[in-house]
Amino acid sequence: MSSATQTNKPRVLVFDSGVGGLSVAREIQQRLPWLPLVYASDNGFFPYGTKGETELIARVDQVIRSLLQRYPVDILIIACNTASTLTLPHLRSQLSLPIVGVVPAIKPAAKLSQSGVIGLLATPATVARPYTHELIREYAPQCDVISLGSSELVQIAEQKLRGEVIDHKSIEHIAAQLMEPEKAKQMDVLVLACTHFPLLKEELSVYLPEKIQLIDSGEAIARRVEFLLGTNIPHGNKAIENIAVFTKRTNEAAQLSIALKNFGIHKIDYLDLQ
Ligand code: DGL
Repeated sequence: MSSATQTNKPRVLVFDSGVGGLSVAREIQQRLPWLPLVYASDNGFFPYGTKGETELIARVDQVIRSLLQRYPVDILIIACNTASTLTLPHLRSQLSLPIVGVVPAIKPAAKLSQSGVIGLLATPATVARPYTHELIREYAPQCDVISLGSSELVQIAEQKLRGEVIDHKSIEHIAAQLMEPEKAKQMDVLVLACTHFPLLKEELSVYLPEKIQLIDSGEAIARRVEFLLGTNIPHGNKAIENIAVFTKRTNEAAQLSIALKNFGIHKIDYLDLQ
C-alpha cells in the first residue's frame, strides 16, 4: 500500500458525526499504536441520527471529499453506524481508496448469544435502516432482536467527553426502556450499534443485568485495518502526528481538547468546507 503522507507511514482517516468514532480510534490505537490517525468530526452537521437520508448522503459526500483533499490518507473509516448503513455504496462508487464501514455487530452477537435474544441499541436512524434489517435477516434469523433507538445517549456521550456532568437518570431510563419487553429477560448480548455508545459502556452496565455482554464493532474494524495495511509496514513507536479535525469552530469542540489528548491526539484543526 502506497503511503499518502510525508512521513512515509500510511495514515488513516477516522470519520464520525462527533466523538463516537473515538471508540473505534481507541481499538485501532491498541492494535496499531504507530499508525497516524486523522480523526474527523462533522460537528457542523451533528447529530446524524436525526437527519433525512438524502441530505445525509450529500453531506457525507461533501465533507469526505474536502477532508481527503486536505488530508491525504490510505484508508477511510466511516466510524459511524448511522452513516455507514446509508452511505457506503455511494462512497465506494465515488472514491478509489479502501473504505471500511462500521455497521451493527449483529453477526457476532447472534453467534455469541446462548438464549437467542439479543438487544440492539443504536440511533433511531440506524434502527430503522433497511441495511440493519437485512443484517438481522441474514445473520440472526433465529434470534429475537429487541431494538431501541436513542439520540439522547449520543448527546450524553458528547457531554461526557467534554468533561461535563452527565445525567445518570437518563441512562437508567434508557436501560429500563430497553429491558421493558417480556422477552428482554432472556437477553444475554447487547449490540452497541452507535460508535458513541461504547464510550458509555461503564455507565450503561450499571443499569443492565450483569449477564448481558455489551459488544461493538471496534475491534473487528481494527483487525480489518491491519489486514488492509498488509505486512509490509513500519511499526516503531507510538504515533505522535495524530490530528483531530472539526467542520465547525465551536466552544464544544474546543472543550474536547483534554479528552482528545487522552486518545493521543494533541492537535486540533478546522475544515473549511468547499
Ligand atoms: N456515532 C454515530 C453512529 O455510530 C451517530 C451519532 C449521531 O447521531 O450523530 O451511529
